[in-house]
Amino acid sequence: MKHIAVIGAGTMGNGIAHVFAQNNYKVHLVDISEEAINKGLATISGNLDRLVAKDKISNETKALTLSNISTFTSIAKGVKNVDLVVEAATENVDLKLNIFKELDKEAPKNTILASNTSSISITKIASVTNRPEKVIGMHFMNPVPIMKLVEIIRGYNTSEKVTADIMTITKKLGKVPVTVNDYPGFVANRILMPMLNEAIETLYNGVAGVIEIDTVLKLGMAHPMGPLQLADFIGLDVCLSILNVLYDGFKNPKYAPCPLLVNMVQAGKLGVKSGEGFYDYSNTKKAETVSKQF
Ligand SMILES: NC(=O)c1ccc[n+]([C@@H]2O[C@H](COP(=O)([O-])OP(=O)(O)OC[C@H]3O[C@@H](n4cnc5c(N)ncnc54)[C@H](O)[C@@H]3O)[C@@H](O)[C@H]2O)c1
Repeated sequence: MKHIAVIGAGTMGNGIAHVFAQNNYKVHLVDISEEAINKGLATISGNLDRLVAKDKISNETKALTLSNISTFTSIAKGVKNVDLVVEAATENVDLKLNIFKELDKEAPKNTILASNTSSISITKIASVTNRPEKVIGMHFMNPVPIMKLVEIIRGYNTSEKVTADIMTITKKLGKVPVTVNDYPGFVANRILMPMLNEAIETLYNGVAGVIEIDTVLKLGMAHPMGPLQLADFIGLDVCLSILNVLYDGFKNPKYAPCPLLVNMVQAGKLGVKSGEGFYDYSNTKKAETVSKQF
C-alpha cells in the first residue's frame, strides 16, 4: 500500500495525513471545506517545524513530507487509485454512512476502507458498503503524531487478511496496533469514559472539589492529568456523546451520563474548545483555575 486517502482535515485527519506522509506514503487529504484543508496543512507544517527545531527531522524531511500530500475537496477525485482510505470526518452516524456509501462507489474495488471513529459501530458502517470484509476501524489517538497506540477494530465481517494488512501498515508508521472486536466504545473509550463519568459524579455528589479529584488521580495513580481536566481536553460534548453510545449499546445504567455533564453541555461549557469546562481557559489553554464552585 503506497497511496492513502484521508477524509477530513480536522484535528485527527491532519495528524493522520502527517504520519503517513512523513513515512513516505502519498497522501490525498480530502475535506469538503477549503478552509479546513488550509488550516490542516498549516498545522502539519507547524508540527513539522517543531520536529525540525528539536532536531528530530531535517528540513529535507519536512519538505518531502509536505510534497507527499495533495489536497482535494471531492471524495470522488480524492480516492481514485488509492490503496487505503482512512476516514476522519466529523463524528456523526448519518454523515459517516453517506461518506462510506460514496467511498464504496468511488474507490477501487480492492481498496480497504478504514474509519477513525471513536464510537460508531464499524459493523454498521460496513453494512452500507458492498465490501464489508474490507471495512475496519483504525482508531488513532490524539495528538496523532505523538501517540503510539492505534486501536484496530474488527467489524463483524472484517477479514483476517484485511486486519493483518492494517496491522502491518500501522507498524510501518512506527505505531503500535492493538486489535479489538467491534462492541460499543471498543476498549479505549469503554474503560476511559466510565472513569471520567465517575469523576464527574464524584464532583456532583460533593465528595470533593475539582482540584482535589484531579490531584488524587494525578498523584495517587500517576495519571499525567486528572480526569476532569482530561474531559475538558477531549470536549464535554464528545464525552457525553460517547457515554450515550455506551448507554444505548449496552442498555446498562452504569453508563448513564452524570446529570452534571448533561447540564454543562447544555450550558455550552464544553471544556478547552469553548473556553470553560471544569476549568477556566479564557486566557490560556492551561487548567489553572476552577471555572466555578461546583
Ligand atoms: N479529536 C479527538 O481527540 C479524536 C480522537 C480519536 C478519534 N476521533 C475521531 O476522529 C474523527 C474526526 O474527529 P476530529 O476531532 O478530527 O473532528 P474535526 O471536527 O476536527 O474535523 C472533522 C473534519 O471533517 C470534515 N468533514 C465533514 N464532513 C465531511 C465530508 N463529507 N467529507 C470530507 N470531510 C468532511 C470537516 O470539514 C472537518 O474539517 C471523528 O470520528 C472522531 O470521533 C477524534
